[in-house]
Amino acid sequence: MSSDLHKPIAHDSAALYVTGAAKFTDDISFPEDGLHIALGLSSVAHGKLVSIDLEEVLKADGVVCCLTAEDIKGKNDASPIFGDDPVFADGLVSYHGQSIFAVVAGSAKQARMAALKAQIVYEELPAILTIDDAIAQNSLLRPPHHKETGDVDRGLLAAPRRLQGRIKIGGQEHFYLEGQAAIALPGEAAEVHLHVSSQHPTEIQHKVAEALGIGFHQVSVQVRRMGGAFGGKESQANLPAIIAALAAVKTGKPAKLVYDRDEDMRVTGKRHDFQISYDVGFNDEGRILALNVAQFLRCGMSFDLSLAIADRAMMHAENAYFIPDMRTTSTLCKTHTPSNTAFRGFGGPQGIMGMERVIDDIAATLGLDPLIVRQRNFYPDKDASDGGKPTPYGQPVTDCIIGQLADKLARDAHYHERRKEIVKWNEGHPILRRGIALTPVKFGISFNKTMLNQAGALVHIYTDGTIHLNHGGTEMGQGLFTKIAQICGDAFGVPIDKVAITPTHTGKVPNSSATAASSGTDLNGMATAAAAETLKARMATYLAAQYQADVARVRFADEKVYVGDEAISFAKAAMMCWQGRISLSATGFYATPDIHWDPDKAKGAPFYYFAYGAAVTEVAVDRLTGENRLLRVDILHDVGRSINPALDRGQIEGGFIQGAGWLTTEELVYGKDGRLQTHAPATYKIPACSDRPAILNIDLFESGGNPAHTIHKSKAVGEPPFMLAASVHSALRHAIEGLAEERMPNLDAPATAEQLLMTLKGMAR
Ligand code: MTE
Ligand code: HPA
Ligand code: MOS
Repeated sequence: MSSDLHKPIAHDSAALYVTGAAKFTDDISFPEDGLHIALGLSSVAHGKLVSIDLEEVLKADGVVCCLTAEDIKGKNDASPIFGDDPVFADGLVSYHGQSIFAVVAGSAKQARMAALKAQIVYEELPAILTIDDAIAQNSLLRPPHHKETGDVDRGLLAAPRRLQGRIKIGGQEHFYLEGQAAIALPGEAAEVHLHVSSQHPTEIQHKVAEALGIGFHQVSVQVRRMGGAFGGKESQANLPAIIAALAAVKTGKPAKLVYDRDEDMRVTGKRHDFQISYDVGFNDEGRILALNVAQFLRCGMSFDLSLAIADRAMMHAENAYFIPDMRTTSTLCKTHTPSNTAFRGFGGPQGIMGMERVIDDIAATLGLDPLIVRQRNFYPDKDASDGGKPTPYGQPVTDCIIGQLADKLARDAHYHERRKEIVKWNEGHPILRRGIALTPVKFGISFNKTMLNQAGALVHIYTDGTIHLNHGGTEMGQGLFTKIAQICGDAFGVPIDKVAITPTHTGKVPNSSATAASSGTDLNGMATAAAAETLKARMATYLAAQYQADVARVRFADEKVYVGDEAISFAKAAMMCWQGRISLSATGFYATPDIHWDPDKAKGAPFYYFAYGAAVTEVAVDRLTGENRLLRVDILHDVGRSINPALDRGQIEGGFIQGAGWLTTEELVYGKDGRLQTHAPATYKIPACSDRPAILNIDLFESGGNPAHTIHKSKAVGEPPFMLAASVHSALRHAIEGLAEERMPNLDAPATAEQLLMTLKGMAR
């Protein structure tokens, strides 16, 4: 069968990316008379806006007009849910870098130069910047909430051993290579069309319509591709899109807003930094009996997606371990900093880091290899006699394979031999130390808000047998468009080059969810398959009648349609159907079955299934400088039956390295004035090519496919591998074991060279 399904074919834009020919929003040809926008940003973290004087701005070269809160006829709001993120600050500024006004000019440079001429008078107010400040001043977005199973207090008291600990985990800048960008084109009457770099075109449509005070039907939004998003364009793309639309409507001309890097880093929200503390009860074998976890997260000045992120952090606070009595409390800290937002893993990584800290501490206390403690606490595998144990939020884990997966990885990577060898090596090498760790990942797949798990697709067949494919998902580099084209081509038995991959457009597939929660292929793949089935059924019925064949025996394969004993080309079949006046266009829809969630009881089965993986990381640390590097990484990850093993490997490698950056070199530093000081690559260090470990083995776990009924038995892969990087942090901690006053010092994240040194000297913050 001539299908491209399950084959490691290249990303459809690979050649365009590497030759620089792929068009991103800022590359779309833009009319000469189009206008460019720059933002005027707050230079204080918290204050009353006493006056905004834009007289000099308006007089500057090339300036056409300015926009402030007063120019917004509809809602002055860019927030995804809670209505608490003004497009332009109105009366009050709540973070350093908040947008106060915009300048519209003939060129981007003119707009930027002009913006600097504004005279803004603030009455500064005290700013709450950190989690500690927020706790001290009780500055919370909502009262702390918790999820609990069993009787934690009794469990802790009854446990033979007990331990308390904590970890601080830093935030993360998305550092997508393409910054936030939006183009708005005024249409007939009040209509407006936008090209944006957004994971969520439908939300852009809604927010633009609400700001302009028009109907959703008057706004259309198109996204061909993003140069990376990583969650940073789930809600954060709203602001530039709304402002571009306001400018286009006010001037009647095309208008474009593209953030530069510094601006992007100052204005947009990031991964939430967390402080996690725990109290654990366990036995002499390291079996955890009861666990009480407190998570504090810095949300910034508004909700954004923080509530769902806090929930996902809570729902991953036990990672891959069955814990009979567990309580997780979440405190959403409100600070005068940019509103933190979605970032690959969506709170899951922070939850998992907290749990892996518990395991490492138990192992250190008992003098056990942490892998053994991990294995003793894993959820039982699905085929074990005690399989199907419930999570703390009540979902039975019926698809667990972490036990077999970790065993296989430990064997293949020679974990135990290498650990022994490393311990010995460290005894003879007081300066250059090595460390190794194996950590697991169990990640829940589905939006944790049940309603969002739906998708649509639109498929047309043309009379030459080529296919136009559209769906609600967006392409951010992850390969979604390629995978969906593979699924679509396979359904009709045609190769992928017969399928046109077309930009996401709110006019083609409406009411879409963000492409997020790793569910792009699961949702849009199923919707596309549904559209294809509708079309195939129509074609089969018609063709079977024409050839007086049994409709059940019509098959689509090898670029042909087999009808009874006849084999006609797919193109001819399409032409015949058209001639027979059969519709060759269909929509498809999918809603994930079986998931449910009761927010009041904080119980349910929110995830359709779990994705599993594990990594062994070996590191080296220079004890005198704190410098460290990855020596070798072995990953075994479960993608079910892969739609495209090349793309899946790309996601695993990229996710892991991005996670390693988060936990080692990427550090966000805010000044006492609330200004982000690490606002460019000179001061904010993402991994470079040279940071890729010399040895990086990635294997896909042969699981026989996803037991859940997903598209071609595949599993989501976008976010789960990010959390494999927990092994980097645990390995670093292993490397410094015994070097500080405390045998196993509390190493926070990111474990920068500086952080490692301070930890060794007992000086860490
Ligand atoms: N891969 C690339 N190259 N670029 C990205 O921006 N985003 C990640 C992941 N992989 C991202 C990526 C995030 S946060 C998510 S949720 C998923 O891709 C979204 O796409 P999917 O649902 O199609 O996997
Ligand atoms: N991931 C990403 N975005 C979301 C989610 C999620 O789980 N839930 C709501 N929005
Ligand atoms: Mo991904 S954080 O769900 O966009």
